[in-house]
Amino acid sequence: MSKGNKFVMVGGGSTQSPGILEVLRQRAEELNLTELCLYDIDEHRVSLLGQYTKMYYGEKGSSIKVTYTTDMKEAFTGAHFLFMQIRPGLNKQRGIDEKICLSHGVVGQETCGLGGFSFALRVIPAVREIIKNVKEICPDAWILNYTNPEAILSEAIYNEFPDAKCLCICDMPISIEGAIAKYFDKELRNLTFKYFGLNHFGWWTAILDENGKDLLPVLREDVLSGKIDTLLMSNEDTVGDQYWVDTYKQMIKLFKRFPKYFPNCYLQYYLTADEMVAHDNLEFTRGDYVTNGREKRIYEECERVIANGTAVDSNLYGGVHGNYIVDIAHAIIHDTRERFTVNIVNNGSISNFDPKAVVELPAYVGASGAEPIVVGEIPTFHKGLMESQKAYEQLTVEAALTGSYQTALEAVMLNKTIPSLAVGKAVLDELYEANKEWWPELIEDYHRI
Ligand code: G6P
Ligand code: MN
Repeated sequence: MSKGNKFVMVGGGSTQSPGILEVLRQRAEELNLTELCLYDIDEHRVSLLGQYTKMYYGEKGSSIKVTYTTDMKEAFTGAHFLFMQIRPGLNKQRGIDEKICLSHGVVGQETCGLGGFSFALRVIPAVREIIKNVKEICPDAWILNYTNPEAILSEAIYNEFPDAKCLCICDMPISIEGAIAKYFDKELRNLTFKYFGLNHFGWWTAILDENGKDLLPVLREDVLSGKIDTLLMSNEDTVGDQYWVDTYKQMIKLFKRFPKYFPNCYLQYYLTADEMVAHDNLEFTRGDYVTNGREKRIYEECERVIANGTAVDSNLYGGVHGNYIVDIAHAIIHDTRERFTVNIVNNGSISNFDPKAVVELPAYVGASGAEPIVVGEIPTFHKGLMESQKAYEQLTVEAALTGSYQTALEAVMLNKTIPSLAVGKAVLDELYEANKEWWPELIEDYHRI
């Protein structure tokens, strides 16, 4: 490889950028990374992170050329990789959605429940625009997408924008696998995990050690016997954050109740929705927490560094989130065909599930993309949960692309967190009012029939 690679961070002004920026700097050589552009529609934020990164990289001796811009054409020209994590409406809108849902007694989380529905209606039009531009400006570039709600967005990207050279990923499976590896005092790379499901909606069916021994029965026994009631986190971004402490406990509680397979923690929002709502604080939701915590911290640090004219006393931390996306870019560039859990079209991997549906599975990733493992048949309980959730996701995509109010309402009613038409319709209508700036216009198409 002679010529260097240009990477673009789409949503470069995001609070999720710093961790990725640090890993990109540390691992630039293996990515043949010579140019990095932060692109965002938010001029203020991208300029803060852009100036910060230029200083930080420069003072750490990096020779990567760093630029930042709000001009998509300028950003995408000559790009080889786009790391995408966007959030139309920012965490502020996340908080508004959470409060609308919680005030009706239903889950408002930004990927599960109607918080996810609302976020999807903000994100899908924006991503469609980005993909259209990638196709025109840098058609050979790979998009690695972290944007949420990944479950719904990946369904839209793979099935509605099939030209996109895009891989949709989530750091939750690898984070939980890291915690499991830690529990068994093993190196993560020495364990092989079997997993199936949808994004934020899946289960581990086996944890194989270097000798092929399945550790899942050991974990099950330790949970059932009461030896453990949580796992220590592997992802240092989340250590000490009470939300994640509670979430890991709830995940073990779910495993104890349904011990066949080990659950993704996000299943808490579906199987114990009432507990989650009771536990949430309507006055101070996760969106408020992130707005007042991570957001403040990051932009204030950028301002401080810019004012001082030096980043020598500033440190970025590159954790699981940054390493996972960089590992995948590395696998594509070097065609390593390593195994990663990604979102991918089922195409028969789960034999008793819709072949066209997007699912989350381990897959081998190389220069031509991802090839999933074969799962075979899944049990009726998991299949039933996944089928109604998938139908909800598919109708959400359809509502976002057609603007049909009827389809939106059908999607809402399929979401497991919604108990009745009265609640579903009230929440949908309030979310629509609060999201006029971002959602497509919804038309009451069947109303007059
Ligand atoms: C995990 C999930 C992401 C999600 C994030 C939320 O990493 O995989 O999908 O965005 O948690 O983090 P936050 O601190 O914003 O609540
Ligand atoms: Mn995720």
